[in-house]
Amino acid sequence: MKFYINPKIKKGHINPELQGHFSEHLGRCIYEGLYVGENSKIPNVKGMRKDVVGALKELQIPVLRWPGGCFADEYHWMDGVGPKKDRKKIINTHWGGVTEDNSFGTHEFMELCKQLGCKTYINGNVGSGTVREMSEWVEYMTFDGVSPMADLRAKNGSKKPWKVDYFGVGNENWGCGGNMTPEYYGNLYRRYQTYVRDYKADEHIFKICCGPNVDDYNWMDRVLYTTHRCAEEKWHGFMDGISLHYYTFTDGWEKKGRATDFTEKEWYKVLKKTLYMEDLINHHAAIIDRYDKAGKIALVIDEWGTWYEVEPGTNPGFLYQQNTVRDALVAGINLNIFNKHCDRVKMANIAQLVNVLQSVILTDGDKMVKTPTYHVFNMYKHHQDNELVDSHIETEEIGLESDFMVPNLTESVSMDSKGKLHITLTNLSSKKAYSIEGVIAESKIKDVKGEIVGGEIHEHNTFDKPETVKTKEFTDFDFKGDVLKVKIPASSVLHLEVTI
Ligand code: AHR
Repeated sequence: MKFYINPKIKKGHINPELQGHFSEHLGRCIYEGLYVGENSKIPNVKGMRKDVVGALKELQIPVLRWPGGCFADEYHWMDGVGPKKDRKKIINTHWGGVTEDNSFGTHEFMELCKQLGCKTYINGNVGSGTVREMSEWVEYMTFDGVSPMADLRAKNGSKKPWKVDYFGVGNENWGCGGNMTPEYYGNLYRRYQTYVRDYKADEHIFKICCGPNVDDYNWMDRVLYTTHRCAEEKWHGFMDGISLHYYTFTDGWEKKGRATDFTEKEWYKVLKKTLYMEDLINHHAAIIDRYDKAGKIALVIDEWGTWYEVEPGTNPGFLYQQNTVRDALVAGINLNIFNKHCDRVKMANIAQLVNVLQSVILTDGDKMVKTPTYHVFNMYKHHQDNELVDSHIETEEIGLESDFMVPNLTESVSMDSKGKLHITLTNLSSKKAYSIEGVIAESKIKDVKGEIVGGEIHEHNTFDKPETVKTKEFTDFDFKGDVLKVKIPASSVLHLEVTI
């Protein structure tokens, strides 16, 4: 297969946030997964698990979204500040009906992001919260001066304000966030976002409007139309980004399929459905283009990933699932797609960080495993903050059913600040390796380093065997002049660092 790269043609900046994450008060994501409390026997710093934070730091997580998800539109932030013993115990109605003791709140989230060294993405409550509540939360977090909320924050232990990098005005307001029509939400968005104030002139809060589910093009169009009715040149002051949610199910919501126990046909089905992300980006971006001629509105894919049936014997409301080589491919394919669309896609958050859906980490008591998805993120981190480079690969259609044929390969290429190229390739074949002959235009290749994640399609990591799938050194390549020859094994994700 031929592969062509032109390092002289730069196609956009790859925001680190394309490799963002999402953590919700859902199942064992926050509690147990990230936060165990200061009195836990599990080693922790201010309640945050040392093992998990250490593993996540290695990934260079750029941004973390919190507190939901559906939970966000039922979350009243005041319940989660102040002395822990006085915090309200509420029912987590969306996720398992369990007691939420609010011991992890705003201060704890900010501490977690500090330990991770990542940006903060707070999702506000439009569904069941008031404008005043949202406005006061922003004041509480960001105002540096004398005010009722800044004083309360200081009383609660944080004299200094924090930085809120991103703020979502509602979540899935077409569904769990209030079952609204796009016009109704669009008007609410205009109103609520007015009070998401920038208290510091040099610290703009990037405002994210609730966008559609999957292919709801009507929602995208109507929300933009509703928010657009304003002085034309100013309208996108209302928002910096609009979200899109797309989960990969094996068949659909009613038939999600199993995480580890799947057929070869289902391997291709899930990969085909993953590739649909590109159609969604193209179509939604075309709608945004109609309203945003200057290309300023970001598409923020703040929930994506595989969604299977829960692991047998676990709480159905906790969405706990295993993660195989198939998920590694899903991650690699999506991250390649995001890179290729970095002109419009400025952030993407896989769901969810620990123990929920397509996680990078699973925990069981004091044990922790890194999933195949973790290892893919660890290789793709080399794209963060790079320039996307022009690249094209020859592909052939493969698969077992006519409706679920896929290209055998996907790729993306970027250049880092030192001029090195980072090539990431996915081989979607369940069985076949491919020889690839790449040409790097007008370049002399000086050195190549490779690393790879892959294996038999069902392979995964368990608490007893945590290293079945891991990153391995890759050396099956050869180079001379401007030609790079690589043989990529079946069902694998590959990263090559090329010095030219
Ligand atoms: O990630 C799980 C849920 O999926 C989120 O809470 C919601 O936004 C989406 O429907």
